[in-house]
Amino acid sequence: MPDAYILGIESSCDETAAAVVRSGEQLVSNVVASQIKTHQPYGGVVPELASREHLRAIVPVVRQALADAKHTYNSVDAIAVTQGPGLAGALLVGISYAKALAFALDKPLIAVNHLEGHIHAVLLEERQKGNRELQFPVLARVGSGGHTHLYLATQSKESWAYENIGHTRDDAAGEAFDKVAKLLGLGYPGGPVIDRLAPHGDPKAVKFPPAQIKHPDRRGRHDGKQLEVQQDRPRFDCSYSGIKTAILRYVEAHNMRGAIEDRRQALVKIAKPKLEDYLAVCDNPTLDLVASFQRAIIEDLVRKTLAAAQAYDVATLFVTGGVAANQELRQTFEREGSQHGLAVFFPSRPLSTDNAAMIAAAAYPKFLAKDFAPIDFSAEAGMVLR
Ligand code: KG4
Ligand code: ZN
Repeated sequence: MPDAYILGIESSCDETAAAVVRSGEQLVSNVVASQIKTHQPYGGVVPELASREHLRAIVPVVRQALADAKHTYNSVDAIAVTQGPGLAGALLVGISYAKALAFALDKPLIAVNHLEGHIHAVLLEERQKGNRELQFPVLARVGSGGHTHLYLATQSKESWAYENIGHTRDDAAGEAFDKVAKLLGLGYPGGPVIDRLAPHGDPKAVKFPPAQIKHPDRRGRHDGKQLEVQQDRPRFDCSYSGIKTAILRYVEAHNMRGAIEDRRQALVKIAKPKLEDYLAVCDNPTLDLVASFQRAIIEDLVRKTLAAAQAYDVATLFVTGGVAANQELRQTFEREGSQHGLAVFFPSRPLSTDNAAMIAAAAYPKFLAKDFAPIDFSAEAGMVLR
């Protein structure tokens, strides 16, 4: 099989990204334009602004990815794009552009699930390192801003299948990082800030009761479809909205509101706050709260993931998605995983958060299987991975 160069395009949330990947195993170029500056004043992603920023960035970002790869529009073999899940308006920008390119250039068009992309980020980098000895099935923990999923991933020839064996019943882990950071006046996005501040606090200072999940999952998805779960298989769901409420109560009980508002105002005046800027506006009780919050989330994620690995007798674990960029989370998964005989793999930190290389990598098996998207396919905001 000759090499295939796939141009990947990703625009599901607040990053416009394009990349060229060779045959699912070599990252040739990778360009990510972040919209943090646009959304920062609002303390979170504003969907309309995200779409507008994608429209501005998409052409230069794709051009840059092609130029960095020393490729042209004509020299790539296929165009891959994120179909969902994500913000509908944001997804449509990437999809429309990818369709226009595929139509004008007469190239195959491949639609990719964003969560499958996160899983293939790990595969891409392992293959690039020459590791072709992965044992299947793989247990994949995908933690992003909107998802905290556990999948059993299996491969047969060119085709991949995913069984969801766990998800969040309410907030995702990344969402909890973002909401808690906002609540404490630390700004957006919350994950990277909390990651950097946590080592400066005492993770044992504040105790949070473990999340209780007592009821079977009867929740329908927001798009009206029923969640597709096999009720007879063990499940490892999680819930992170309780910890956010616990922090809100802690803030009120300890009269932290005034200090939080002062911190928020001090930080909005700094264009790109550094660690010292954050530390200068955080007292010890705040740092302790941040460290304890992060520890509680990580312990829950790790405990449930390891229990799932044991229940399904899995030897290989992928930890991926934006939350996998977290330093303490990586260390804890590595330590606990090796104690339980699990081989644990992460993407490099740049490929943990949203990027298009993972989309181009996930598209390669579909390229081989000629699993191409019709030109009239549309964005699927609540797309399920299976
Ligand atoms: O996968 P991702 O980049 O975008 C989505 O698909 O949503 O994940 C973004 C999420 C955000 O909630 C962000 O706060 C979180 O990942 N995140 C982190 C870190 N970096 C990003 N959470 C914890 N520690 C980090 N270092
Ligand atoms: Zn993501």
